[in-house]
Amino acid sequence: MAQTWTPNSWRQKPIQQVPDYPDLAVLDSVEARLAKYPPLVFAGEARRLKSALANVAEGRGFLLQGGDCAESFAEHGADTIRDFFRAFLQMAVVLTFGAQQPVVKVGRIAGQFAKPRSSGVEKQGDVTLPSYRGDIINGIEFTEGARVPNPERQVMAYRQSAATLNLLRAFAMGGYANLENVHQWMLGFVKDSPQAERYRKLADRISETMDFMKAIGITAENHPSLRETDFFTSHEALLLGYEQALTRVDSTSGDWYATSGHMIWIGDRTRQPDHAHIEYCRGIKNPLGLKCGPSLTADGLLELIDILNPANEAGRLTLICRFGHDKVAEHLPRLIRAVEREGKKVVWSCDPMHGNTITLNNYKTRPFERILSEVESFFQIHRAEGSHPGGIHIEMTGNDVTECTGGARALSGDDLADRYHTHCDPRLNADQALELAFLLAERMKGGRDEKKMVVNG
Ligand code: PEP
Ligand code: CO
Repeated sequence: MAQTWTPNSWRQKPIQQVPDYPDLAVLDSVEARLAKYPPLVFAGEARRLKSALANVAEGRGFLLQGGDCAESFAEHGADTIRDFFRAFLQMAVVLTFGAQQPVVKVGRIAGQFAKPRSSGVEKQGDVTLPSYRGDIINGIEFTEGARVPNPERQVMAYRQSAATLNLLRAFAMGGYANLENVHQWMLGFVKDSPQAERYRKLADRISETMDFMKAIGITAENHPSLRETDFFTSHEALLLGYEQALTRVDSTSGDWYATSGHMIWIGDRTRQPDHAHIEYCRGIKNPLGLKCGPSLTADGLLELIDILNPANEAGRLTLICRFGHDKVAEHLPRLIRAVEREGKKVVWSCDPMHGNTITLNNYKTRPFERILSEVESFFQIHRAEGSHPGGIHIEMTGNDVTECTGGARALSGDDLADRYHTHCDPRLNADQALELAFLLAERMKGGRDEKKMVVNG
């Protein structure tokens, strides 16, 4: 693609999933205001994430990406952020132990507000209204007024992102993320789990390692890496006017960066190579994610890789595969083979959520067994192809919601009504998310033992 890129060159391209704003003058004035606001993240941070992801692409790390399907204005609060961060860090520790590799921590948070929809309208009884598109665009209430896209919501989303990020930075650097804390929380989870016996073995080995480190004098007091952590933010770059307003030149490199979050991704519905979302993303230097669903062909993927990562830089592009537990074996191998054949450097990540959504008792839900099964297949396929299963991408919350069925507490279809709070897709609750981490860590360890057996003949 030889044409010049500018932060607004996407406006010349066809676009999907755009809200129908009733007053474009108001939209323009909001975007102009946002363009003067401070950046939420800095280019140097995005570069640090990119180099961490480069290690993952080269097989020396694992990416944990997760958070809400859609953040909401109503649920914004310190407790929600803290509980998410707490569950997420525990997963990261368990996965670090399982993978025996650094885990790169990226939240779907502090900017994850805009949602693509399969239909532009929602029907309830005889009433048809525009679909809810995320709190940054319109309201979730099923009323005509709430569903009108309102540009002022972008300012609210910006401010909520800034406040969320501020607290996350404090948690990450201010001592809350201390490994000893995370370890204690994790032991609490194991003790209370109906699967305590199963998880205790791994938990005990982590405890022994911690005791050993303490014995030889490695403590949080003398090792900052034990009391601080790198945590990055990400969201789907769907609402391009908002993204453009926060696109800034980095004074160090002269390059353009999206400053709305460290990493942004392109959704499965907006990855047409000649359309607006790909155009916007190709010009910014942040690490990018690309959702890969069943309709993506191997040639289509290679075309997108060439547009988004022409210099084939490791860490620039993460392929977030979301096929479904029953389709992953059909689609993933052909994509891996094409990418490996062409020597393209990517992070392979597995989103086991978006291909496994079903409806049960009128609720959108996802069975835990299917989520686990897709990730297991993802690992097996990569092992068979000789490529690196580099990460997982999940929808989760730190709260005790009842949105996905299954898990150690065996949530059933009848439980869904109890605490079904999501603004969009069903999320793993804190226990289910941590269980997933334990089950994967067991398998990662199993995979390593197998490899050793092969090497030792
Ligand atoms: C999402 O990540 O919430 C999402 C809409 O995913 P996808 O684009 O893969 O459907
Ligand atoms: Co979702």
